[in-house]
Amino acid sequence: MNFELKTLDLAAAGNETCDALIVLLGAAFKPGKDALSTLVTQVQKAGDLETKAGKSLQIYRPAGMACSRLVLVSVGEGSARELRQGVASAVTAIKGDNLKKLVLCFSSEPKAEGLRTSMAAVAEASYVFTTTKSKPEPRTLQRVVVALPAAAKLKSVFEQTAAAVAGIEYAKEWANRPANHATPSLLAGAARALAKYPKIACQVLGPKEVAKLGMGSFMAVAQGSQEALRFIVLRYTGAAKTVAPTVLVGKGITFDSGGISLKPAPEMDEMKFDMSGAASVLGVFRALAALKPAINVVGLIPACENLPDGRAIKPGDVVNSMSGQTIEILNTDAEGRLVLCDALTYAERFKPRAVVDIATLTGACMIALGGVRSGLFASNDELAAALLAAGEASSDLCWRMPLDEDYAEGLKSNFADVANVAGRAGGAITAAKFLQRFAGKFAWAHLDIAGTAWKSGTAKGATGRPVALLLQYLLASAK
Ligand code: BES
Ligand code: MN
Ligand code: ZN
Repeated sequence: MNFELKTLDLAAAGNETCDALIVLLGAAFKPGKDALSTLVTQVQKAGDLETKAGKSLQIYRPAGMACSRLVLVSVGEGSARELRQGVASAVTAIKGDNLKKLVLCFSSEPKAEGLRTSMAAVAEASYVFTTTKSKPEPRTLQRVVVALPAAAKLKSVFEQTAAAVAGIEYAKEWANRPANHATPSLLAGAARALAKYPKIACQVLGPKEVAKLGMGSFMAVAQGSQEALRFIVLRYTGAAKTVAPTVLVGKGITFDSGGISLKPAPEMDEMKFDMSGAASVLGVFRALAALKPAINVVGLIPACENLPDGRAIKPGDVVNSMSGQTIEILNTDAEGRLVLCDALTYAERFKPRAVVDIATLTGACMIALGGVRSGLFASNDELAAALLAAGEASSDLCWRMPLDEDYAEGLKSNFADVANVAGRAGGAITAAKFLQRFAGKFAWAHLDIAGTAWKSGTAKGATGRPVALLLQYLLASAK
């Protein structure tokens, strides 16, 4: 998506040649003397546009204006949520073949959050996945002019959001791909492709190197698949080499069948999204490439498939993790934590200022928080507060969950240092407690995105979350 920022009042927006002009009308709207203002005033006086966010009115070739279509849309008080609703309904109403250039006009100055959600909503509403269609209907919307009363004030927010959208779309592309189009080696290719941008380097480890590192837990998950595992290391160096990096660790299970603890057939296809954490890390690097902030970031992705096979891990197997801790695998479907724990141990070598892992880890988290907020677990209050705040600012929300030591009771094993599952109760938390055992040497947070990374049903598809949250967090850490 190509975004442009312009300072345009309503009169100037009316003169902008485009396929559609969307005018966002909130309670703060003050009409001028131009044709567009006059029209809006008439519409409002006649009561032809309800003020509830999302209500809209379309006008074809309005007199005295340069747009083919004019969409007046109510955004209520202009909150981030109302702006998202308004923009989404307006874009959905007009998208199609003829919509190539769009002008998104704010009749009054939005808050930073409002601009962020509005731009994200345009991208979201016009996104199409075409990679695996034989006759793709490509996205027609090419250019979006963001028209603000005083553009200069929100320039940096605009630039950040345009980069976030590029990152979100990169994440969506990879998360949406089916497992046969997003194998561990193809994911590694996607990471390598990012290294063509300045300040980004990529290193990819294969089975031999991973064995040498002693990542017995990661290797155990991969051993039931014909696809060779990959361990992807991305580095963004925007600051001096001596500045401690933030490490992002993304779960990269390119397909999760459950393994020998096989999942039921219905909706199993959705386990192609089990690398959404990995995709979000790729997306963040895509955004960093565009923004070039003065920070250092490392991205780690353990990527493999989880399949049943003659060579697959079996319930009861005990494996040696890179940390030295032995793990009894009581359920082969709790594989995410098994690949992440070795990646967390690997993260120690970067002497990070913080480590954040991102994973579609538990169905229990989806049950707990639904699709609105991701689960946030953190060993460090300052890190938790920063991530929560970043979520609010980017409208990519999360919610802090507890890590009391009592939750770790169920992970005790008679045969190893730790078991990979506890009971059903508090499943999102016990999973986090497992990970915490491998994150003792740095400030650590874990985002369980099982409920937020994709949508099911007719809207099935990746959301690109939590790229916006992570980017916001990283940029705030630079200040
Ligand atoms: N990838 C799944 C988690 C998941 C399930 C995300 C459904 C979204 C929707 C994960 O690997 C898994 O299978 N977790 C198990 C853990 C259990 C065996 C302790 C789960 O949540 O059922
Ligand atoms: Mn699983
Ligand atoms: Zn999984």
